[in-house]
Amino acid sequence: MMMVSFGAKLTWTSALLLILLVMTIQVQAQPPPGFINIDCGWSNSSGYIDEALVMPFSFDGEFVESGQNHDILPEFMVDAANEQQKTLRSFPDGSRNCYTLPSTVGKKYLLRATFTYGNYDRLNKSLDGSLFLFGLHIGVNFWDKVNLSNWDPSFAVWKEVLTVAPSNSVSICLINFGSGIPFISSLELRPLQDTMYPFVNASVSVSYFTRYRFGNITDFITRYPTDSYDRFWESWSGTIDYTYPWISLNTTNKVESLPGTDAFNVPSAILQQASTIDTNYSFMSVAVATGPNIDTTSLQLLPVFHFAEINRSNPNRRFDIYSAEDLLFADFSPSRFQVDSMYKNGQFLKNAYAIFSLNKTDSSSLPPLINAFEVYSLVRMENLTTDSNDVKNMKEVKKHYNLARASWNGDPCSPREYSWEGLSCDYSKSNQNPRIVTINLSSSGLGGGFAISFMNMTSLENLDLSHNNLTGAIPDYQLKSLKVLNLSNNKIDGPIPDSIRQRVQAGLLDLRLVGNPVCANSKDTYCSDTKSNNKEDKKKKRNTTPILLIAVIVPVVLISLIVGMCILRKLYQKGKSGDNEDYASYEEKTPLHIDIRRFTYAELKLITNNFQSIIGKGGFGTVYHGILENGDEVAVKVLMETSIAESTDFLPEVQTLSKVHHKNLVTLQGYCQNKKCLALVYDFLPGGNLQQLLSGGDVYSLTWEQRLHIALDAAQGLEYLHELCTPSIVHRDVKTPNILLDKNLVGIISDFGLSRAFNDAHTHISTAAAGTLGYLDPEYHATFQLTVKTDVYSFGIVLLEIITGQAPVFLDPQTVHLPNWVRQKIAKGSIHDVVDKRLLDQYDISSLESVVDLAMNCVESASIDRPTMTEVVSRLRVLLPAVSSEKQSVSGTPRFKNSMDTKIPKQLQMMASDVSNEGSSFQSGYAGGLTEISKFSGR
Ligand SMILES: *[C@@H]1O[C@H](CO)[C@@H](O)[C@H](O)[C@H]1NC(C)=O
Ligand SMILES: *[C@@H]1O[C@H](CO)[C@@H](O)[C@H](O)[C@H]1NC(C)=O
Ligand SMILES: *[C@@H]1O[C@H](CO)[C@@H](O)[C@H](O)[C@H]1NC(C)=O
Ligand SMILES: *[C@@H]1O[C@H](CO)[C@@H](O)[C@H](O)[C@H]1NC(C)=O
Ligand SMILES: *[C@@H]1O[C@H](CO)[C@@H](O)[C@H](O)[C@H]1NC(C)=O
Ligand SMILES: *[C@@H]1O[C@H](CO)[C@@H](O)[C@H](O)[C@H]1NC(C)=O
Repeated sequence: MMMVSFGAKLTWTSALLLILLVMTIQVQAQPPPGFINIDCGWSNSSGYIDEALVMPFSFDGEFVESGQNHDILPEFMVDAANEQQKTLRSFPDGSRNCYTLPSTVGKKYLLRATFTYGNYDRLNKSLDGSLFLFGLHIGVNFWDKVNLSNWDPSFAVWKEVLTVAPSNSVSICLINFGSGIPFISSLELRPLQDTMYPFVNASVSVSYFTRYRFGNITDFITRYPTDSYDRFWESWSGTIDYTYPWISLNTTNKVESLPGTDAFNVPSAILQQASTIDTNYSFMSVAVATGPNIDTTSLQLLPVFHFAEINRSNPNRRFDIYSAEDLLFADFSPSRFQVDSMYKNGQFLKNAYAIFSLNKTDSSSLPPLINAFEVYSLVRMENLTTDSNDVKNMKEVKKHYNLARASWNGDPCSPREYSWEGLSCDYSKSNQNPRIVTINLSSSGLGGGFAISFMNMTSLENLDLSHNNLTGAIPDYQLKSLKVLNLSNNKIDGPIPDSIRQRVQAGLLDLRLVGNPVCANSKDTYCSDTKSNNKEDKKKKRNTTPILLIAVIVPVVLISLIVGMCILRKLYQKGKSGDNEDYASYEEKTPLHIDIRRFTYAELKLITNNFQSIIGKGGFGTVYHGILENGDEVAVKVLMETSIAESTDFLPEVQTLSKVHHKNLVTLQGYCQNKKCLALVYDFLPGGNLQQLLSGGDVYSLTWEQRLHIALDAAQGLEYLHELCTPSIVHRDVKTPNILLDKNLVGIISDFGLSRAFNDAHTHISTAAAGTLGYLDPEYHATFQLTVKTDVYSFGIVLLEIITGQAPVFLDPQTVHLPNWVRQKIAKGSIHDVVDKRLLDQYDISSLESVVDLAMNCVESASIDRPTMTEVVSRLRVLLPAVSSEKQSVSGTPRFKNSMDTKIPKQLQMMASDVSNEGSSFQSGYAGGLTEISKFSGR
C-alpha cells in the first residue's frame, strides 16, 4: 500500500515536474512584451522557436502583401548566421514594397532588418561586379541604403533604426533603385523606454551606424538577453585593429547609473569591461568607417560614448574627446563604477571618416579608457504620412475590390514619387498630412457594389469609377467635397438618391452615369451623351464644327505660332547664353587651364545617341558608348548625380588627369561639368576589360605570353602614375575590370585618379573610394591611408588572377581569398595546380615560378615588404623575351615540371605553413572590419 501510494506520488510529482518544465519552456519562449520577430520568407504560418534566442519567430504573411519566398542556396545554409537568414522574401515587382508592423502611437522603438543574399536567385548578383543595392524607408522617409555590391553572399547585413511610431503601425519599405531586386531576411521590432535616446523624437529618427563594446569579449555580438532591449553590441576586440596595444580591463563590481541619467540603459555586464591602452600612449582613435560599402561622407553622425572607471584604485584618468578634429568634451574623467554616457543631444556632426579620438590630458596619469560606444546617423522624418482617415478608407477600398496593384503599397500619398497610381493628393499645406483629392479607378475591373469607404473621404473631389462592372445603387452620397463623380459605363441600376440629385441640380456635383442600366429610360443630363441625346448633339456639333474651326482654331493657331516663335527665339538665346553662363561661372570659380575639350550636356546627349548604349557600370556611375563628330569612338562616363553638387575637387582632378599621357593609361578626351552633368569622356577601347577576357569561358583563352604582356602593360601604367607624376597618383582601385584592352590586346589602365577627387571632396561615392572587395590592402584597415603600396597589393591580386584565371574571391566550396588559395595549392602539391587550366601546360616553367613569386611579394601584408612598381616592371620585363624565344620548346614538356616541384621558393613554403588559419584571417581581414556586416551568431 505504502509502496503503491508512494509510487503513485512519484509519478504524480514527475508529471507535475514535467508540466512545470513544459511551462518553463513555453514561458521562456515567450518573447519579452512588445517584441515582434518576423522571419521573412518563412513559408509555414505556424512559425517556430529560434533555439539560440529562445524566442518565437513568426512567418511574414500577415505583415506584407507582396513579394516571393525564397531559400538561400544550400551551400550557404550551413554558414547562415541564424535560422532567419536561411529564407528571404524578394520583391521583383513594384518600386516600393512595405511591411506593416503593429505599434503603439508615440512609442519609441528599435527596428532591425537583416539581409543575407545567399545567391538565392543563382544570379550571383553580389559578386558579379555590378552595383547591387536598394533603399529602405522607415514609413515615408528615407532611412538607408543596403549595398551588397562585391559582397560575400553568405554574410548578413543588418540595419537598425530608432524611431517613434507615427500611428498604430510602423512600416518599413524596400525601394527598388533599378540596381537589383530588393529582398529582406528578417525584421525585429523592440520597444524602448520613451526616455531612452532623447535625441529621437517624432521628427528625428536615427539609423544605426555602429555599436561597440570593449574589453576582452569573445562573442562577436552581444544581444538579448544580456541586453534586454536586444541591441546588437559588436565586440571591438573581434574587429581588426593593429594600431594600438589595447589592454582589457574587467571588474565584477556592479556598474550603476545615477537615477534619471539612464538614457541608454547600457547593461551592467557591458560596462563591467573596458579597453585602455599601454601607458606609453597618450591617445586612442576609434575609426569606424571601414569597408567598401560604407559611405560616411554625406552622413551626419551622433556619437554616444559610455565610460565607467572600473580600475580598483581611484586613478587620475582624464581625457579630451574629439570627433575628427573637433573637441566634443574637454577634460573628462570617468566616475568609478558609475556610467557616464557622453553625447551632445541633437547635435549631428559631419565627420566624413567617422574617426573619434580620446586624448589624454597633460594632468592625467593614465591613458583614456572606453567601455562602450554607439554612433547613429540622422534620419529626418520630414515627410508626413497621408491623413490617417484617408489611409484607412483607401485600405478598405483596396480590400473591398481586391485590388492588387504593384504601386498600391505603403502610404498612399507619401513620399510623392511613390504615391499610389491613380491617386492625386494635396500636399499644399506643408505642416499638415497630405490628403487624397482624386481617385481614378476607371477600367480597373471593379465588380460588385459601390465601396462605402469612399463616402468618408472628406477631401475627395474627383472620383472616377467609369468602365467597370459596378452594380446596385449609388449610395446616399453626402460628401460635400466631391465635385466630380464619374460612374459611366457600369451596371448601376438602382435609383439615384435625392441628396445627389439635389447637388447635381445645384451645380455642385458633376455626375456622369452614361452607359448604365439606370439611364436606360432617363433623359437627365447626367445620362446625356447617351444614344437618346447623341444624335442631336452630333448634328449640332457637325454644324458648328466648321465655324468653330475658323472662329477658334485659326486664331489659336496664329497666336500659338507667334507665341511659339517668341519662345523658340528665347530658348535659342537662352540655350546659347545658358552655355555661356556655364562657362562664365566655370572661369570665375576655377582659374584652371584645362587643355582638353569641354562638352555640354547637349553634346554628350548627341554623341551618345541619347545615352542609349551602356557599356559599363561602376561605383562612380554609368559608362556609355559614344561617337564623336569625327567618327572617333569614346566612352562617356557619367558620374552619379548625387555627387555633382559637392564635387569641388573635380576640376583640379580633371586638370591633373588631362596631363597624364602614357600608352598604358586611358586618354581623357574631355569632360562635362555644369548643373546638368558631370562626366568624363575617354578613348573607347574595343577589347573589353581583363576580367571579361580572363573569365571568357573555354572557347578563347589568352596565351601565357599574352598574359605576361598585359601584366607588364598594366605595371608600366601604374609605374607612370606612381613614379613619373608629381605628385604621384595613387590609383586606389586597381582591379581586372579597370584594365582595358585595345584591339591589339595592349593593356590600358582606366579609372585612375578619380577616386581621389571624390574621396577628398567628401561626396557620395561609396565603393570605389576605398577599393574593391578582394583587392583591398589589409593594411588599409589599420591606417586608412591609401599609398602607392596599396596599388601594389591590388596589382598582386591582378597578377594572381592572370596566372590562375580565378576571381579574387570565390567559392571552393567555402569563400576563399585568391592569395590564400594559391598558398594552399602550393603547400599541398605543385605550383602547377594554380595555373589556369585553359593554358593546357602551354607556359614557361621558370617564368611561372618568377611571376607567382612576384605576385606573392606584391600581396605581402606589410606594405614595406612589397616591391615598388618600378621593381615590378623590371622583374616582369626580364621574363618576356625569355617567353617569346622559349615558348615552342617549353610547351608540354613535363621535365620542367618535375624539377620545379622540388624547389618551390622558400618564401612561399613559409607562407603556406600557416595555411590553416588563413580562412579566419580572410574573414577578419575583409569582413570583421566592416561595421555593418558579418556573420552573426544567434545570440
Ligand atoms: C520627402 O519627400 C520628398 C518628395 O517626395 C523626397 O524628395 C524626400 O527625399 C523625402 N524626404 C525623406 C527624408 O525621405
Ligand atoms: C580573455 O578572456 C578569457 C576568458 O574569457 C581569458 O582566458 C583570457 O586570458 C583573457 N585574455 C586577456 C588578454 O585578458
Ligand atoms: C579579468 O582581468 C584579469 C586581470 O585583471 C584577467 O586575469 C582575467 O582573464 C580577466 N577576465 C576576463 C574574462 O577577461
Ligand atoms: C590627440 O593627440 C595626438 C598625440 O598628441 C595628436 O596627434 C592628435 O592630433 C590629437 N588628436 C586631436 C583630435 O587633437
Ligand atoms: C465585366 O464583367 C464581364 C464578365 O464578368 C467581363 O467580361 C468584362 O470584361 C467586365 N467589364 C469590365 C469593364 O471590367
Ligand atoms: C465614417 O467615419 C465615421 C467616423 O469617422 C464612422 O463612424 C463611420 O462608420 C464611417 N463610415 C464608413 C462608411 O466608413
